[in-house]
Amino acid sequence: MNNVSELVINYLQRYGCQISEDYKTFLREACEIYPPPHGMAWYGNYYRQFARKPEWFANSLMANAAEEGNGSRKVWQFSRCIQDSECAKLVRSHSIDESRHSKMFVALLNILFPTQLSADFRSQLQALSPNYYHHKHPTTEPINRDSILDTKMVMDEIIKINLLEIRALILQLLLRPVLQAYATPKDLAKVTTMSDLFIYDETKHVEYSAYCIGKYIQQGNQEWVREMMIYRQQTVNEMFLTDVELENSLGTTVLNIDN
Ligand SMILES: [Fe+2]
Ligand SMILES: [Fe+2]
Repeated sequence: MNNVSELVINYLQRYGCQISEDYKTFLREACEIYPPPHGMAWYGNYYRQFARKPEWFANSLMANAAEEGNGSRKVWQFSRCIQDSECAKLVRSHSIDESRHSKMFVALLNILFPTQLSADFRSQLQALSPNYYHHKHPTTEPINRDSILDTKMVMDEIIKINLLEIRALILQLLLRPVLQAYATPKDLAKVTTMSDLFIYDETKHVEYSAYCIGKYIQQGNQEWVREMMIYRQQTVNEMFLTDVELENSLGTTVLNIDN
C-alpha cells in the first residue's frame, strides 16, 4: 500500500467527496507500481531542510505564486478545448481557484516577510495571478474550430491534472507546519486558516478530476483509464525526480499539462 494514495483517499473521505471505487483501485495500483517521490520521507526531509533558510522559503512562496498563476491560465485555455459542458465548467472553476491561490501565496509572503518587499515588487507579484473570478474571466468560447480535443486527449489531460493535484495536496501538507513555524503568534490563526483553505481546495481539485475520470470509466473505458493512470503516474514522477536536483523547484506546485 502506498502512502500517497492512502492519504489522498483519506482526505477525499474527510471532505465527504464521492469517488468511484474503480478510480480508487487504479490510483492505488498506479502509486504501487510507480511510488510518487513527493510522498517519500526523504522528499519531506529535504524540503524541511531547505525551508529552514528564510531566503529559500520566501523564494519558494514566490515560485508558487508564479506557478499557480501560470497553471490558472493554462487550465483556462484547456477548458476552451473541452466539448463536454459539465467537464469544461469544472475545469474553469479549477482555473479560478488557482488564480486565487497565486494571490494567497503573495499574501503569505507579505504576512511572513513584511519588511522585505518594496511596494514596486509587491505589485509585480500581484500581477502573477491572472485575476480570474466567477464573475470576471476570459471567454469560454473554443479557441478556434480545430481546438476542440477528442475525448481521449481530454481524459489524458484530466488524468495528468488529477495526479498533479494530488502532488499539490501533498505539498500543502508539507508547507503547513513550515508556515506555522514562520508565523508570529499574531499571524498564526490567519496563516492556519489559509493553509486549511489550500488543503480543502486541492482536495476538491482531486475530487472533480476523479469525478470526470469515474464518469469516463462508466462509459466502458476501464482498461484504458487504468493503463493511462499507471503511465501518467510514471511520467509525473519522472518530471519531479529531475526537479528535486534543482533546489529552487523543490516544493513548487506545478500544473504543467503541456507534457
Ligand atoms: Fe493550487
Ligand atoms: Fe490545485
